[in-house]
Amino acid sequence: MTIPRHPTPIILDGDPGLDDAVAWMLALASPAEVQVLGVCSVHGNVPLERTSHNAGVILALAGEAGHQVPHYAGADRPLVREAVTAAAVHGDSGLPAAELPAPLREPETLHAAEYMIQTIRARPGEITLIATGPLTNVALAFRLAPDLPAKVREVVWMGGSTAHGNRTPAAEFNALADPHAAHVVLTSGAQVRMVGLNLTMQSIATPDRVAALHALGNRAGAVCAELLTFYAGHYRARYGLNGGALHDPVAVAAVIRPDLFTFRPMRVEVDTQDGLNFGRTVCDLYGKPGPEERVRVGMDMDDPAFFALLLERVARLP
Ligand code: BDR
Ligand code: CA
Repeated sequence: MTIPRHPTPIILDGDPGLDDAVAWMLALASPAEVQVLGVCSVHGNVPLERTSHNAGVILALAGEAGHQVPHYAGADRPLVREAVTAAAVHGDSGLPAAELPAPLREPETLHAAEYMIQTIRARPGEITLIATGPLTNVALAFRLAPDLPAKVREVVWMGGSTAHGNRTPAAEFNALADPHAAHVVLTSGAQVRMVGLNLTMQSIATPDRVAALHALGNRAGAVCAELLTFYAGHYRARYGLNGGALHDPVAVAAVIRPDLFTFRPMRVEVDTQDGLNFGRTVCDLYGKPGPEERVRVGMDMDDPAFFALLLERVARLP
């Protein structure tokens, strides 16, 4: 017998970005497991102006599920380094699909970091932050409100890697795009689950999977299929893979279905020194985690069950 549980209240923070879009749709279509309190946009795959526009588009794509969800725009640049984008992967718009609805609404006037502070303080210990972009908004919130790391239930971050990078040989894109912010969050004392490349590269949107999304027959399935087809071009050319990796949806699934994943506590530090390893998340795989270790790193997943979940949830949307 499954015991019914209350949905986990979550804030989505990301840089949509086509895999962010699929991830947010997965969350918005899963009201029994997660209640999306708000979405926040940050610089990253494309500039903030564009990720903010795209956030409104995703809420529109989600239909009813997006209607009550407010949107807050955040940081337009990293804390220290100069901004980097990933238009080669996500297109200049960040959402390379031919027909998209207009954004559901403009962002609220409150900054995303202020929104996080107010919302998490109002419900200490309850709210999970799912971050699928550079951690600038979260780091700003943690610096403005030093009580916040102890009040957030958990930060689940798609970023970093136990092994190689994707944007550089050493660094994953979200870590590289703001390594100083990642350092602030990973050393904040907050409970963090890191969903890095070593995990997310286990889940590829192959042509069969893309076809299954398209065959759902709804608009959300068609848009996901179109975005993932564009994405596959980069993954084929750059890595010789048979499709794009479902990075950001995997992070959302780790909250919806934690039973599909294996996480291990370990010491994780981000290299913020200029040089070959700038932005690398150095993971102490063979160290003994102490009681103070608050970063748990995703190691393995049940990929077929994850994709079945994604398909079933996208089918619920218009
Ligand atoms: C991450 O970088 C971005 O390009 C994707 O949206 C994902 O969050 C993968 O390295
Ligand atoms: Ca992202």
